[in-house]
Amino acid sequence: MEKSRTKPLVLMSHAVPEAWLAKLTDRYAVEMGPADTIGIPDSFLQGDNPAVGVITLLMDKVDGQILDKLPYLKVVCNFAAGVDNIDLGACTQRGLPVGNTPGVLTQATADLTMALILAAARRLPQAQEDARAGLWKNWAPAGWLGLELSNSTLGIVGMGRIGQAVARRAASFGMRILYNDSTPLPTAGLEFPASPVNLDTLLRESDIVTLHVPLTPGTRHMMDTETIGKMKPGAILVNVARGPVVDIQALTDALENGHLGGAALDVTEPEPFPPDHPLYRLPNCLIVPHIGSATERTRRKMAEICCENMLAGLEGRRLPFCANPDVYTIRQKQ
Ligand code: DGY
Repeated sequence: MEKSRTKPLVLMSHAVPEAWLAKLTDRYAVEMGPADTIGIPDSFLQGDNPAVGVITLLMDKVDGQILDKLPYLKVVCNFAAGVDNIDLGACTQRGLPVGNTPGVLTQATADLTMALILAAARRLPQAQEDARAGLWKNWAPAGWLGLELSNSTLGIVGMGRIGQAVARRAASFGMRILYNDSTPLPTAGLEFPASPVNLDTLLRESDIVTLHVPLTPGTRHMMDTETIGKMKPGAILVNVARGPVVDIQALTDALENGHLGGAALDVTEPEPFPPDHPLYRLPNCLIVPHIGSATERTRRKMAEICCENMLAGLEGRRLPFCANPDVYTIRQKQ
């Protein structure tokens, strides 16, 4: 990757295939951090770093202290739709627009949600573990019994783009769909049958609850001992949103004491999840390493949007996808 400082410098906190950032490298020198660490590398934060833009990943904390170490930044672009890793207020205060990548990961994330729902409902992790362990002795009429999706109830918490894409898929499996969202969908022209309900009703009536809310102070640990306790006995909890939406200890307890039938997590608190965590030992808990958007097509599109956001920010244009649009009104007032 371009190291010369004849072009203005853009930082990419972690290495990605160079081709993904081709739109940037014509005009900017791009310096990438190592692929397998967490956070913006310390080496980027030492000395008088001349970087004018930074691309961050969802596990990179970006707060006032970090921003003060990169004093020439004009724009921050998150390689994610969620921006809970970024102190948007601190960016806005410094006049920095923050880009994100909504929309392009909807289908990939909804696909993974269905994969998790199906795997948890049909107990695939347990079935595979048992088969590998030599416990597949015969065709056991009462062995590895799971839940059929058809005529089961799916509760979707957060009916944004991804929640709706999951609903569309679940409807084709014959599921009854309940959802909870602060803004109910208009019923006219809805492509799938789905009923808006309050959270308590959703938890009480759903066989499977799937979470699709952003992480905010209001959603942090929204699934705790009390709310998990309101779920149907034997129900399944799926989290594809952000790890801290679920209190992991409360979930562990509910799986261990048998109140919940299973869980499937694409996201955890913390991330990465420690390999010795007791949840990994529970056969009714499936954990994958935050791969909701992990398809070649989607990750390339996310990179493309990052480049477009970055170019717009560096050229003084409005970002196509901006997570702190108030930065522009504040700028105008100044
Ligand atoms: C996002 O973009 O916020 C997703 O969590 C990445 O998969």
